[in-house]
Amino acid sequence: MKIIAIDGSPHGDSGNTALLLEEFVGGALAAGAEVERVCARDLDMEICCSRMHCWYRTPGVCIHKDSVTDLIDRMALADVWVLSTPVHVGGMTELMVRLMERTVRLLSPRFEIHNGRTRHVASPYASHKAVALISTCGYYEDGAFDPLVSQVIDLARSHHRRFAGALLRPHGLALRFMQANGFDLQPVLEAARMGGDELIRNGIMSEQTLAAVRQPLLSKEEFVSMMNSAFERRMGCQAGRTPGCI
Ligand SMILES: Cc1cc2nc3c(=O)[nH]c(=O)nc-3n(C[C@H](O)[C@H](O)[C@H](O)COP(=O)(O)O)c2cc1C
Repeated sequence: MKIIAIDGSPHGDSGNTALLLEEFVGGALAAGAEVERVCARDLDMEICCSRMHCWYRTPGVCIHKDSVTDLIDRMALADVWVLSTPVHVGGMTELMVRLMERTVRLLSPRFEIHNGRTRHVASPYASHKAVALISTCGYYEDGAFDPLVSQVIDLARSHHRRFAGALLRPHGLALRFMQANGFDLQPVLEAARMGGDELIRNGIMSEQTLAAVRQPLLSKEEFVSMMNSAFERRMGCQAGRTPGCI
């Protein structure tokens, strides 16, 4: 099974989301997958011009010639797209959006109706393939992921791919901080690895595994207090200048 795992965080390998992606990829490799990792930050990536030249003027061929051109060709063939992105403004990062816009050339402009909904026609092979999501967010609550999960489910549907689950870590902003301060992240990291293993062996990540990745490691009050102390240490609190400081 061929996976393309795309890290859409501006922090790349040093980010919180990459902690989970690293484990997930380890689990997928151990289960026998072939994995290509892509760091969106490092791509030379033009913005989709939105004039749909890839539909009408040169069908299937993008007007841009950059490192994304070949990547999209490989994505068309990959069994699984693993989209790894922190929550930014409720959804995926600008880097990930920019890349996903470029995948429009894999679709035809023609519409069809599937399960009562319109969508563009895609390759008939796409329905055997999948999309999975890995994400961290800043807020404590799982609900912070809701718009992103809807966005990725919709994207999978547009590409006729099956949605294979979302490996989500709320209050992920605290992950590296917690790691540096002696919290035991092992249960979360082991579950992320299990997610990679399950996706390859079973085609889907189990709810038990996803719940283990989401498990709270501290209370909401402890989280707020820990993060506020960390923020104040970093920025200093200047009344009248720092938002939230009185
Ligand atoms: C520009 C920006 C927007 C963000 N928007 C949200 C948001 O809407 N909701 C949220 O819970 N966290 C938000 N965050 C916090 C990140 O999701 C969180 O810090 C995440 O763990 C960062 O992952 P990374 O280290 O892999 O980049 C935002 C962070 C940035 C930089």
